[in-house]
Amino acid sequence: MSTPIDLGRPVSGDVIDLILEDHRLFERLLRDLRDSTADRDAVRRAFAALHVAHAEAEEKHVYPKLKRKDAIDADEAEHGVEEHAEGNQALLAVLELKGTDSQKFEDAVEELAEKVNHHITEEELTILNPAREEISEQVRTELGTLFADERNAQIDADCGRIENVRRLVQEAEHEGLLDDDEDDEG
Ligand SMILES: [Fe+2]
Ligand SMILES: [Fe+2]
Repeated sequence: MSTPIDLGRPVSGDVIDLILEDHRLFERLLRDLRDSTADRDAVRRAFAALHVAHAEAEEKHVYPKLKRKDAIDADEAEHGVEEHAEGNQALLAVLELKGTDSQKFEDAVEELAEKVNHHITEEELTILNPAREEISEQVRTELGTLFADERNAQIDADCGRIENVRRLVQEAEHEGLLDDDEDDEG
């Protein structure tokens, strides 16, 4: 295991169930990040691995397939990718801080929780619901295997390490994925 906290290792299942299990795990880890008695350094590293692995697996397999099947449109997929980038940016701020017991750390955790809670709520409403209604069980199961394989491979490759999160944020900046919220700052 490449993080000190067990992130599970599903290998198959309905992709919707697998995604929801990860979302529940995001929520649990965010709760632990708020807990001043928790090993917050271990928790932030586990959160980083899960966030990157989950988002990459969705972007590589789930969003493209749902788009091809007309369950979601291109704008919805693109919006999801933008929110993953915003989540990675907020995650990077949490990872960059030296200590985990400062006001700065708690402010960064608050921002991260806001971004991630917003995204998982919206994704469940606008992406997973159409997938439930319009994608066959067989395709959802096939997607589950692809999603799990990519997720696990990312975690094995230590995808949550700070250098990798930095690289993802830089790439997202170059692609203009982080522009919208910063209109006022140019
Ligand atoms: Fe998700
Ligand atoms: Fe997502």
